[in-house]
This record gives sequence, C-alpha cells and structure tokens, in this order.
Amino acid sequence: MKILITGGAGFIGSHLAEAYLEQGDDVYIIDDLSTGSLENIRHLQEDERFRNQLFVHINTILHHDIMLELTGICDVVMHLAAAVGVQYILDYPLKSIRTNIQGTEKVLELCDKFKKKVIIASTSEVYGKHLHAPLMETDNVIYGPSSKFRWSYAASKLMDEFTALAYYRTHGLKVVIARLFNTVGPRQTGAYGMVIPRFVSQALRNEPLTVYGDGKQTRTFTYVKDVVHALIELAEADNAVGEVFNIGGTEEISMLDLADKIIKATASTSKIEIIPYEKAFGKDFEDMLRRVPGIEKINQCIGFDPKTDLDEILKQVIAFMK
Ligand SMILES: NC(=O)c1ccc[n+]([C@@H]2O[C@H](COP(=O)([O-])OP(=O)(O)OC[C@H]3O[C@@H](n4cnc5c(N)ncnc54)[C@H](O)[C@@H]3O)[C@@H](O)[C@H]2O)c1
Repeated sequence: MKILITGGAGFIGSHLAEAYLEQGDDVYIIDDLSTGSLENIRHLQEDERFRNQLFVHINTILHHDIMLELTGICDVVMHLAAAVGVQYILDYPLKSIRTNIQGTEKVLELCDKFKKKVIIASTSEVYGKHLHAPLMETDNVIYGPSSKFRWSYAASKLMDEFTALAYYRTHGLKVVIARLFNTVGPRQTGAYGMVIPRFVSQALRNEPLTVYGDGKQTRTFTYVKDVVHALIELAEADNAVGEVFNIGGTEEISMLDLADKIIKATASTSKIEIIPYEKAFGKDFEDMLRRVPGIEKINQCIGFDPKTDLDEILKQVIAFMK
C-alpha cells in the first residue's frame, strides 16, 4: 500500500511513518517543518531497508499541485498536518486557522477527487470546557468567547470534522475521524506547550517545574505507539467509515501529581513552581479542568485498549530526553 502522511515529520506522524514502513508499505510524507523536524525522520531516511519506500516532500499541504500529485499516487491519506499546541496557536493565530481549515479542506477535496480513504486527526480540544468524565463522542461542545483565542484551535478542528462528515454524507467519501487525547512519547517537543516533555526537560536540568494554574487540572496520557496502532487499525476497519472515535488513555492524573512523579522518576532536585495562567499564556487563555476519554466506541470497533501505563511512558520519554 502507498500511504500519504501529512505532517509526517511531526511527532505522531514520524512514528506512524515508521510503523507503516516496518510493515512494508510505501510512505509519502508532506511536511512544511513548521513544528516538525527532519530530525524526527532522519533515522528512517538513513535506514537502507526503507531506501525505496520513503518519499519526503518539504512543502505545505496548501500547495495544490503537490497535494494533487501525492493524493493521486497514494491509496490512503493520514491527515495529521496541523497547527498544534496551545502556545503555537496563541503565537500564530491567523496561520493556525488557515492551516487547519483551508489545509484540511484541500486534503478532503483531493481525496474526494481520487476517491481515497482519509483519516483525519482531530483532538480532545473539540469538547471544550467540560467538567465531567468520561467524554463521549456524542457529547456537546462548550467553548469560551472568540476573544479567547485558545478556542480557535478547538473550533478549527471541529470545522474539520464537520467538513469531513459533509464529504462523507454528500459524496460518500470514506473518512474516519480520530479525536486524539494527550499523546506522548519520544520526539515530542515541549516547545509549544506540551506538558510532559516540558516537565521532563526542566527536571533533568534541576530547574523548577512550572505548573500552570493551581495544578489541580487533570489529564490522561496515551503512548504514541498505542495511538499509531489505533490509527492504522482504524484506517483498515470498514465499519469505522463516517464515524468519530476518541483515542486516549484512561489513567487520570493532576498536573501537580504529574510534576511530582517526574521529579521522582528523574531523581531531580527540582521544586514545583505555580504560575498563574495569565502570566504563562496571557489574558486570552482558559484551561479545561478535566479531559478523560470514553473509549468504548473504539474498543468495540477495533479492540483498542492502550497497553502502556504512565510510568512506562515516562521511562521512555526520560530515556529519550537524556
Ligand atoms: N500530540 C497530541 O497530544 C495531540 C493531541 C490531539 C490531537 N493531535 C493531532 O495530531 C496531529 C499531529 O500532532 P503532533 O502532536 O504530531 O504535532 P506536530 O506539531 O509534531 O505535528 C504536526 C506536523 O504538521 C506539520 N505541518 C503544520 N502545518 C503544515 C502545513 N501547512 N503543511 C505541511 N505540514 C504542516 C508540522 O511541521 C508538524 O510536523 C495534529 O493534527 C494534532 O492536532 C495531537
């Protein structure tokens, strides 16, 4: 099979590329390196086994002619390219909306032209500021006002979901929507606000671990290889077409407890420093206090049951960052 991975030089995209290459598929990557990096895929480019299997294009998904060619060549499109990360969205609000809305529309338009199946990477952010758990695919979405720019990420990804579902309903395009919850593992950068790489890097340097808000907000974390496995299975499952799925872990932990765990796991002398949201992200920021996925739907569809617990995830990330 020939797989097009948009955002394939990113954190999740590079692991996905590796998994497809390992199972013998040809992988075409398009990435503009805005948050991704060639370092993420260098080991794949240098691997003799993949010499005739991996094709990398450094360009934007907004480039019509290149996307036309790549979508025409490939059998399946895994659409991961996006403006990602709270800090990045706040720093580049207009570019982020363009990438997430016009970019996804371009991908869908071309997949429709060639009738290629497409998996859309969405996000748990689309749920907005719920307090209950677990979050189910059919739950309402609750956002803050448009003056709070952090919601533009959620709203743009939600619009991607609507557009994908509209192509499915009106043209029968085979689409699957994967709402990823916090995904972590080696190669994730802390530069755009991702909490685990940021905490681990601070702990390894014996610097204070900066916890935003009061630190009582909770998250779950899923190991990137478990997510990649689920994405590949979803792409193969006929009964996943036209559906939305949560992909995430169910082990809930507060940011204070997470910081504490990372200090212990790295044997660091770091202390915890509480930083108000406004100081960290400016006045446009609002956080979600809880984000736990219901995973019954994906479990029933492909038997998804994330295997890697938080201690093991931290072990992998710490080893990588060291
Ligand atoms: N990591 C998570 O916890 C998480 C959670 C929810 C959803 N997601 C989704 O998963 C996908 C991958 O995220 P990630 O964590 O690997 O982040 P990432 O930033 O590492 O990956 C995104 C990739 O897209 C590329 N990109 C951005 N704009 C582009 C453009 N216009 N043209 C071509 N390439 C472009 C970036 O350079 C990067 O390599 C995203 O769609 C994201 O919204 C990730």
